Amino acid sequence: MNESFKRKILCIGAGYVGGPTMAMIAHKCPQYKVTVVDINPDRINEWNSENLPIYEPGLYEIVKSSRGKNLFFHTDVKKGIQESDIIFVSVNTPTKTFGVGAGMAADLQYWEKTARQILECSQSPKIIVEKSTLPVKTALAMERILSSANSGIHFEVLSNPEFLAEGTAIKDLENPDRVLIGSSQTESGLKARDELVEIYQNWVPRKQIITSNIWSSELSKLVANAFLAQRISSINSISDLCEKTDADISEVAHAIGMDSRIGDRFLKASVGFGGSCFKKDILNLVYLCRNYGLTEVADYWESVVRINEYQKERFILNMLKAMFNTLADKKICLLGFAFKADTGDTRETPALYIANKLLEENAKLIISDPKALKNAKKDLKGAQGDISYVEDPYVAAKGCHALAILTEWALYAELDYQKIYNSMEKPAFLFDGRNIVSHQELHKIGFNVYPIGKPALKHF
Ligand SMILES: NC(=O)c1ccc[n+]([C@@H]2O[C@H](COP(=O)([O-])OP(=O)(O)OC[C@H]3O[C@@H](n4cnc5c(N)ncnc54)[C@H](O)[C@@H]3O)[C@@H](O)[C@H]2O)c1
Repeated sequence: MNESFKRKILCIGAGYVGGPTMAMIAHKCPQYKVTVVDINPDRINEWNSENLPIYEPGLYEIVKSSRGKNLFFHTDVKKGIQESDIIFVSVNTPTKTFGVGAGMAADLQYWEKTARQILECSQSPKIIVEKSTLPVKTALAMERILSSANSGIHFEVLSNPEFLAEGTAIKDLENPDRVLIGSSQTESGLKARDELVEIYQNWVPRKQIITSNIWSSELSKLVANAFLAQRISSINSISDLCEKTDADISEVAHAIGMDSRIGDRFLKASVGFGGSCFKKDILNLVYLCRNYGLTEVADYWESVVRINEYQKERFILNMLKAMFNTLADKKICLLGFAFKADTGDTRETPALYIANKLLEENAKLIISDPKALKNAKKDLKGAQGDISYVEDPYVAAKGCHALAILTEWALYAELDYQKIYNSMEKPAFLFDGRNIVSHQELHKIGFNVYPIGKPALKHF
């Protein structure tokens, strides 16, 4: 093995962020040795196999190009720390479920354990890079832990939040809108910052690598997610009004999106946002604001999450009302379970909320998804009711009373809906939680069609 690498990089946490980001660094920087460690041996085994633990278009190809050359996955965290010069911390930071701040604040236990382990195992100076999304001032806590042992070893903490979106992670990593690096403004802070800039400069133009103080960097990540989610909740709130007034949300979104001050991205009405980040990061922001006594600011951002919950509730109430106020014993096919297309991730997916509510109504569920069935089974383990999992959408829809499109997988826009209609119970219903099919055409076929934010197209 070539041990004459320029620097040795370690990433602690081989998840949706750690895996793809390190694969990209290894792919673009053959002069660096990149090792990814995780306490979960199953995850590491999968990273070392043909079946990676996460699905992302293009990920397998870049992992394969570097794995075993300058990209390594293993479980020996201690050895990894000892051998490395630069350590990215990419462990999970979920919402706290216990004690003070439960349901709001970030649970920093995995992150703190990592900090302590770095301190315990280090024998040489290191640059520690916060990749996980963390509350503002976490770097300060990291620094305090790392300097608590008076070991004489210098640790420089940087903030380098990750802005990739699942489903387009490789594209986002290869061609990021910007890379943000926060550092302390001391000589050693700026030197460490420049080392990280140098890594990214292997493929990202310098003007897109922006630097800031460490607190701005930490806060920017929370604010970016809050703004993105806020756009979704804004358009979703208007979708409700459209359904009452016969306006069409796609037409409204198009009209407002052409205003260059508004822009046309993130204006698609849907059953609601999901994913592991938006809700947790907004709640984290809300918690921070409350902590600083900023009640109005906290209430403002909290409403983004409230609208998202409302949108999911509205979807299920629409289904119930349309289907004559009873779903008991009706077979309902969920087309899509992932929180968005092109990922198998189901964390905070609206589909789980919808599935649980349908089960409460004693509906029979047939769940279909091209990549997320394994996670769907885990999520619904222990749920009471009649659930089956069928990947083929034609088989899944057969004999059903209704279809609910919950993920915007491109394949659902291209199905032969005439064939599906012929195999369903009548009257056949279609609830398009992503507005991806041609509603007029499906109505012509015979479906009763319920889009989001547009008038329903019914046959009675
Ligand atoms: N998923 C996203 O799209 C996304 C995007 C940007 C930022 N983030 C942020 O990145 C961070 C990681 O998110 P993720 O989605 O990759 O999470 P994840 O749950 O997929 O991965 C985290 C991994 O860290 C491992 N881990 C936890 N404690 C460890 C320890 N002490 N030592 C070694 N490994 C440990 C876990 O086993 C897990 O495999 C979070 O803070 C998240 O908010 C996520």
